Amino acid sequence: MNLKIKVLAVFISLFLINTSRADELETFKKYELSENFHSRHVNLWIEILKEYKGKPNVQYLEVGTYEGGSFVWMLDNILTHNTAKATGLDVFPPRVKEVFLRNLKISGAQKKVTIVQGYSEVELRKLPFNTYDIIYIDASHNAHDVFADAALCWPLLKQGGILIFDDYAVYPEYPVELKPKTAIEAFLNCYRNYLDILHEDWQVIIRKKNIPLPQNWEERDEDTFIRFGDFLYYIRSKKAVNAATREPLELTSEEASLIEMMIYSREFSGTGFTLPPRVTQHPLYSGLKKKLNF
Ligand SMILES: C[S@@+](CC[C@H](N)C(=O)[O-])C[C@H]1O[C@@H](n2cnc3c(N)ncnc32)[C@H](O)[C@@H]1O
Repeated sequence: MNLKIKVLAVFISLFLINTSRADELETFKKYELSENFHSRHVNLWIEILKEYKGKPNVQYLEVGTYEGGSFVWMLDNILTHNTAKATGLDVFPPRVKEVFLRNLKISGAQKKVTIVQGYSEVELRKLPFNTYDIIYIDASHNAHDVFADAALCWPLLKQGGILIFDDYAVYPEYPVELKPKTAIEAFLNCYRNYLDILHEDWQVIIRKKNIPLPQNWEERDEDTFIRFGDFLYYIRSKKAVNAATREPLELTSEEASLIEMMIYSREFSGTGFTLPPRVTQHPLYSGLKKKLNF
């Protein structure tokens, strides 16, 4: 392709992207929203959720819908297949509920929607495990509430599903127990072997890894394991097994030491997990990476 054609192709694709984003923002205009919290996240959500757009049987859960800004945007733009479903949870103070219901009516998608009214720490416990493809946590912003919402949502999310936290960076001046950041970072650290971080800015977006937990209690209880790629590494016995088949993996004592160095030195850096150079430059590192497939 010569240069002129390349430049023209870039302009055309930019025009098409901007037009489709403008359309997706346009959908807000028909709704009654006292504040539009969601418009600034639209570009990010279009990109991250594109694999779900228009797909059958997608299930979405929103914790904290308020008047429905992000909720109706999802219905209009991602949950467009007639078998897609959305569950909206909120304490729904009377005025908020009236506006939410009016917006839902405007969306014309009431049939796809389940409304759950109450406190998230109570209602999330009643929802079905391993059900939702996408969960958005945007209810109370106290750290303990955000942490509880995340921990309660985790078993509801399918493996490979997406969890979105709002307001990671809000209230920088507040004490730690009053900001979502404290809870989000604690959650990421606690669950770090079970997730990938897809995005971190005003929102933090993660994907739940496809990691089946050990099937029986004896296996869970007998040792403490950490997942690396396709394998589980058991800290006490210093053994690795294939996570799916439980076949043992041969490891030299040097490889086991390097795995332990990785476990103890991994840091959550804000954008993902980093390993120090003494690990990544270790002569066995790239071979081990291949062997464990991480
Ligand atoms: C920031 S608003 C949600 C905005 C909405 N997601 C959007 O983008 O348009 C937060 C909502 O969470 C609800 N909420 C706060 N604490 C809650 C709790 N503990 N359980 C359930 N809902 C809660 C509030 O009623 C409010 O409607």
